[in-house]
Amino acid sequence: MAAARGGFSSRLGFILAAAGSAVGLGNIWGFPTQTASNGGAAFVLVYLVLAFCLAYPAFMAELLIGRYGQANAVTSLQKMSRQAWQKRFAFMVGFGGIICAALILSFYGIIAGWMMSYAVEPFAKMIGMQQVSEWVITQGIARNVLFSALFMFLTVSIIRSGVEDGIEKWSKRLMPMLIALLVLLIIYVMTLEGASEGLDAYLNPDLSKIFEPDLLVSALGQAFFSLSLGTSVMIIYGSYIGKRENLVSLGAQVTLIDVSIAFLAGLLIIPSMYVAQAQGVAIFAADGSLISGPSMVFSVLPTLFEGMGAMGLFVGFAFFILMSIAALTSSISMLEGPVSYVVERHDIERTKATTGIGFLIFLMSTIIVLNLDFMLDFVATLATEYGQPIIAMLCCIFVGWIWQRSELLEEIKQGNEQVENSLFWKIWPWYTKFVCPVAIAMVFIHSL
Ligand code: PHE
Repeated sequence: MAAARGGFSSRLGFILAAAGSAVGLGNIWGFPTQTASNGGAAFVLVYLVLAFCLAYPAFMAELLIGRYGQANAVTSLQKMSRQAWQKRFAFMVGFGGIICAALILSFYGIIAGWMMSYAVEPFAKMIGMQQVSEWVITQGIARNVLFSALFMFLTVSIIRSGVEDGIEKWSKRLMPMLIALLVLLIIYVMTLEGASEGLDAYLNPDLSKIFEPDLLVSALGQAFFSLSLGTSVMIIYGSYIGKRENLVSLGAQVTLIDVSIAFLAGLLIIPSMYVAQAQGVAIFAADGSLISGPSMVFSVLPTLFEGMGAMGLFVGFAFFILMSIAALTSSISMLEGPVSYVVERHDIERTKATTGIGFLIFLMSTIIVLNLDFMLDFVATLATEYGQPIIAMLCCIFVGWIWQRSELLEEIKQGNEQVENSLFWKIWPWYTKFVCPVAIAMVFIHSL
């Protein structure tokens, strides 16, 4: 069956695809933004702790559900259920995750479209198309619809080709490019005046801020978004991996890559802000905090690139291409969630399902574009602040309370016979059963 429904052909393929899903605008934009607005290095520290202590265990729960079920999120969760109410609950959780992925894609596609339009701008300038270069970076319905359509087209084209020829092949191409671009940009920015001051702000924590509740909530939300939790995505990626692989170590490697790239992105963006300051750009808001959010990426950084003259055109182009690539390896995973469900449960051909669902999500993006001020924030909050934590928590409850213990342990052992001697074996099962759901619920309730 595994062969008929496709799967990753190698460990590297899985690692790059799962890391591709995890590494996205959340890492390269969200993480530095949150760092800037939450007191710099204190946020980085809390984020690291939460990513490994709460997000990684929840991430493992989703991967294990998928690998056990060898199917889309709903079918996988239902395979673990014995009673009728459990099967209904499984449907709610699995389908909820799929809807969550679709909602995220509907707004993520718009923002990714902006990244692409900002990559076109320096290019248009270079070839002397002044008017085009201005149009692509001016907010407007036509520009937003055009670029989100373009981004969705790319996403659909990859997913239509399936797991190995689409997701795996493109993750293997795009992820190394992304890492190389990121490192090159960091090296370049470090040579500029002001960078060391930025490094200082990024790496020296103000320890008094560490236990601020808002900081905790933001850091946990960021960690869950970054590992793509609560969206059925990691269940489906887990289902494409063979029983002979050591999932515990693969999961840890993906988490490590995700966290490291967020950290590297901060190393690029926060010092870039201080470089901009050295060139006379205002980087602090009226209340004294570092400018964050959209104006950081779409105003401060472009001003910095402009100040670099001809070189700035290349740097700006590279930066926004980096953003677009990161977004694309994530968006394909968001589309795979709903597509795998429709293909497997409703027996619809993959290419048709992909085009149909891609089109529906694009329509949703268009509705958001038409009501941008209100809907972008609304959909993003609904999906990432409510949907993701609730569904991730329910997945932990599923693993801890509904999945038969012996089957769970058997699944952990697959591909990893020595696991019985490890800390993971001793701690993770009860940790996921008790600590994760309670901790996620506490943070969630606080955020209300
Ligand atoms: N993890 C991705 C990022 O950091 C976003 C994402 C969320 C991807 C949910 C898939 C599912 O940008």
